[in-house]
Amino acid sequence: MSKMQLGVIYGSRTCEHDVSIISAVQLMRSVDREKYDVIPVYIDRKGQWFTGPALLDMKTYTSFDPYGKGITPVQLDLTAGSGALLHYVPAKGLFGGGKEEVVARIECAIPVMHGLHGEDGSLQGLLELAGLPYASSGVTASAIGMDKIAMKRFFKAFDFPILPDCALTRSQWEKDRAGTIAQVEQALPYPVFVKPACLGSSIGVSPAKDRAGLEDALELAFSYDRRVLVEQGLDKPIEVNCSVLGFDGDRRPSVLEMPNSGTEFLDFSEKYLAGNGGSKGMASLKRVIPAPIGEELTKELQDLSLRIFDAMDCKGVVRIDYMIDRHTGSHYITEINTIPGSLAFYLWQATGLNYTRLIDEMVACAMKAYAEKERNSFAFTSDILSGVQLGGKTGGKLGGKLGGKTGGKL
Ligand SMILES: Nc1ncnc2c1ncn2[C@@H]1O[C@H](COP(=O)(O)OP(=O)(O)O)[C@@H](O)[C@H]1O
Ligand SMILES: [Mg+2]
Repeated sequence: MSKMQLGVIYGSRTCEHDVSIISAVQLMRSVDREKYDVIPVYIDRKGQWFTGPALLDMKTYTSFDPYGKGITPVQLDLTAGSGALLHYVPAKGLFGGGKEEVVARIECAIPVMHGLHGEDGSLQGLLELAGLPYASSGVTASAIGMDKIAMKRFFKAFDFPILPDCALTRSQWEKDRAGTIAQVEQALPYPVFVKPACLGSSIGVSPAKDRAGLEDALELAFSYDRRVLVEQGLDKPIEVNCSVLGFDGDRRPSVLEMPNSGTEFLDFSEKYLAGNGGSKGMASLKRVIPAPIGEELTKELQDLSLRIFDAMDCKGVVRIDYMIDRHTGSHYITEINTIPGSLAFYLWQATGLNYTRLIDEMVACAMKAYAEKERNSFAFTSDILSGVQLGGKTGGKLGGKLGGKTGGKL
């Protein structure tokens, strides 16, 4: 049996570029080589795509050389179902055009992106267009999961537990700083948490205890995003995370983790730079598994995680983060990560599924979703085209005269 050609797509134009590389290299090293050929697809900070064996080595990225040995610039062929990675070979002489070579052909993709331009639905949209199966959530769930403001509005509609918040824009802040502060103060008591709407890894996130702190926090958050979420702040919340794996009703929760035993707020440096060596991503964090929060709450949060997964129609592996108010015991959803750091493999390992088998299941989800989409009818027979008469010369104004026989309102 020939091996499946498994494309792992990562990097991209995002603040979380480096974290994505760590997650992807970890994943590529765990793929079952008996079943799959791994095709690394690295998107650099400028948005250029590369493939090649050198990309399996972490050292390649410390000072990335796009002309380096074992690295080939490529483009994905968007023809539906092609999956080809094309490399442009320029012509040798002065005359005659260059040609495109197929370097590899992807049959299934695993997006390992964190943040914008990858986790947010944009890459998922590209893969839908290219007609390729892929192992992350689809366009809608990815987009909702990336945008903290949209995500909270969505959760509210389902009565899922979230903290009160208020949403702001940069133009509003720049026009009327005092009015913006007043809006926040009217909606929420201090302390608050200020977050760029569409970032991750705690970048640009900060707490504010008073008005001066709020101003600084807004200034910082607006330097990262045009839209900002201000949320009621909890005092040293207990944080727990739960992963869910599956697709379309066939899904299950992982054990829970408590990621930050002791620290107050996990910022970027605590998530990725502290601890052992800093290159092990989320997996290296000081964490307690299973989270010591009792059976009842564990079960409640696992059930809630499944309901969130279903409501958003997620696919593959996601991680849902919670905060527990240590004074009241109430729990709240912090966020959902549709492509979690390290793909949450350490949670599945603790649940009894090793990384290699987790990847198998993610691929199975991708293939199932693709097969389901293939079952949809894309043809709807109508004679609308045969009846349309566009007036004037070709190249004339479109949208001009679409009247005529068909009765024409399009
Ligand atoms: N409302 C809040 N109250 C207290 N701490 C919070 C609150 N919101 C976020 N935090 C802290 O900030 C961290 C990052 O927030 P989060 O919304 O998960 O953003 P990111 O997407 O950047 O990870 C959380 O893990 C938690 O430690
Ligand atoms: Mg988070």
